[in-house]
Amino acid sequence: MNAQTYVSELFSLEGRVAVVTGGSSGIGRGIATALAHAGAAVTVVARREAELRATVEGLTADGCRAAWVSADLATAEGARAGAEAAADAFGEPDILVNCAGVNLRPPMNDLGEDVWDTTMAVNLKAPFLLGQRFGPGMAERGYGRIIHVTSQQAHRAFVNSGAYGASKGGLESLARSQAEAWSAHGVTVNTLVPGFVLTPLNERLASDPRKVASLAARTLVGRNGLAEDFAGAAVFLAGRSSAYVTGQSVFVDGGFSVH
Ligand SMILES: NC(=O)c1ccc[n+]([C@@H]2O[C@H](COP(=O)([O-])OP(=O)(O)OC[C@H]3O[C@@H](n4cnc5c(N)ncnc54)[C@H](OP(=O)(O)O)[C@@H]3O)[C@@H](O)[C@H]2O)c1
Repeated sequence: MNAQTYVSELFSLEGRVAVVTGGSSGIGRGIATALAHAGAAVTVVARREAELRATVEGLTADGCRAAWVSADLATAEGARAGAEAAADAFGEPDILVNCAGVNLRPPMNDLGEDVWDTTMAVNLKAPFLLGQRFGPGMAERGYGRIIHVTSQQAHRAFVNSGAYGASKGGLESLARSQAEAWSAHGVTVNTLVPGFVLTPLNERLASDPRKVASLAARTLVGRNGLAEDFAGAAVFLAGRSSAYVTGQSVFVDGGFSVH
């Protein structure tokens, strides 16, 4: 067997169908791009149509199979409708990536129920609802990969983590519960844990070069993250070679969490 065949048998996503929420921007777009280039037909789900369309046009121009669905994951109805529309594009997914997220960051004293509820709805309830919609079918078919994107704030307080950290901590627990439910049926569930990644989510923090430099210095690699840094880990967790990896939190953070 030559090297290319061997690598392809381990990591190819040819014939797989993936749904990536938040796939129109930042880390989600990086992951959607990686899964599509590894062979999966990918549907990206988010709200803004221009960003969705641009992402899909970029992927199809590269010869990938891609589609988009506009849905607001902040409501249960939006999440359910988005899931149905996503399944219509290429069929029931083998891979679900929950990457859509919001980080509203009010200081604790100003943290009201509205911000708490929105944060929990997008960051935790939507992944739960999409898991309920797709997980049992994956288990019945004997293959599935669910990847949640959490945060170092699931593990430590950092810049008004408030509701955000609580939602991401809950999401890591949800991953373990889903792994408990479905791993014996071929469905693995893991989380990718970013450190500080330069994306639109962090625009405010990223506009202060001193803060950006000091965050880079907190990593072991010596730089902040990029959306492309998630490509390899996402393809691995989405593919057949990660069959014995489940319920895990995989830190893709340049060593931020161990420094
Ligand atoms: N950047 C970091 O340093 C960092 C660190 C740790 C964890 N993370 C996590 O990584 C994930 C991606 O973040 P990012 O930095 O790549 O952010 P981003 O570039 O702002 O992307 C966020 C994505 O989520 C979508 N989204 C937000 N609210 C939504 C809603 N109500 N319904 C549907 N889609 C929604 C956005 O699209 P629309 O706005 O068009 O809906 C966008 O596609 C998030 O879960 C975030 O918590 C990021």
